[in-house]
Amino acid sequence: MRKLIAAMKMSADGKIEGPEGTADWVEAWSDDYGLMPQVDACVLGGGMYPGYEQYWTAIQKEPEKPVWITGSAPTPAELEWARFAAQTPHYVLSSTLTSALWPKTSFLRKLEEIAALKQRPGKDVYLVGGARTTASLIDAGLVDELRLIVYPLIAGRGKALFATTERRRGLEVRNVQQLRGGRVCLIYRMGQGAR
Ligand SMILES: NC(=O)c1ccc[n+]([C@@H]2O[C@H](COP(=O)([O-])OP(=O)(O)OC[C@H]3O[C@@H](n4cnc5c(N)ncnc54)[C@H](OP(=O)(O)O)[C@@H]3O)[C@@H](O)[C@H]2O)c1
Repeated sequence: MRKLIAAMKMSADGKIEGPEGTADWVEAWSDDYGLMPQVDACVLGGGMYPGYEQYWTAIQKEPEKPVWITGSAPTPAELEWARFAAQTPHYVLSSTLTSALWPKTSFLRKLEEIAALKQRPGKDVYLVGGARTTASLIDAGLVDELRLIVYPLIAGRGKALFATTERRRGLEVRNVQQLRGGRVCLIYRMGQGAR
């Protein structure tokens, strides 16, 4: 069965965005988790999808222009993700959204549809976020692996990645890697118990 791999960038105190609604400490939204070779589908929550689509469409259309979240021109790795995203099916978990600009985007209404997606043949599936979706899919036991890039700062007020998580769950460390700029990439396999 294909794995569902959640991957997010967060501060040392577990925030994925500051009080103003963006993680302004993240310099680029590229795949810095090494996921691209092993995935061929993305799952996202309805909360983040419109902003995600807007961000990567802007890069696809005008690759030299500064983008709205980082305020900088896209990095080479962001350009690579923009190309990858354009040709990769995206599945948006939402009971309210009905349309998307990207032709390869479709909508999932229930968690059972995520379980069915995992049963289909293919490479692994990347769970891009956001916070509530990641928390609910972990609680439902649908996430197989968690990759976190931890930034060297305490963000203070802001949106916590696990604010809506309901169940305690053990994790098994698979890899720890120090990245540029004091960041650390942690790869966990989801444990079965609540240790
Ligand atoms: N730092 C990072 O690496 C990172 C990565 C990704 C996103 N983000 C941030 O995350 C924020 C968005 O997170 P969020 O928590 O507000 O929203 P979200 O997780 O993107 O979306 C929440 C929505 O997803 C749908 N949903 C979630 N669980 C569901 C379930 N079990 N069944 C049915 N539908 C479900 C619902 O949509 P409906 O209401 O339409 O039903 C819900 O309102 C963005 O601001 C983005 O910047 C950060």
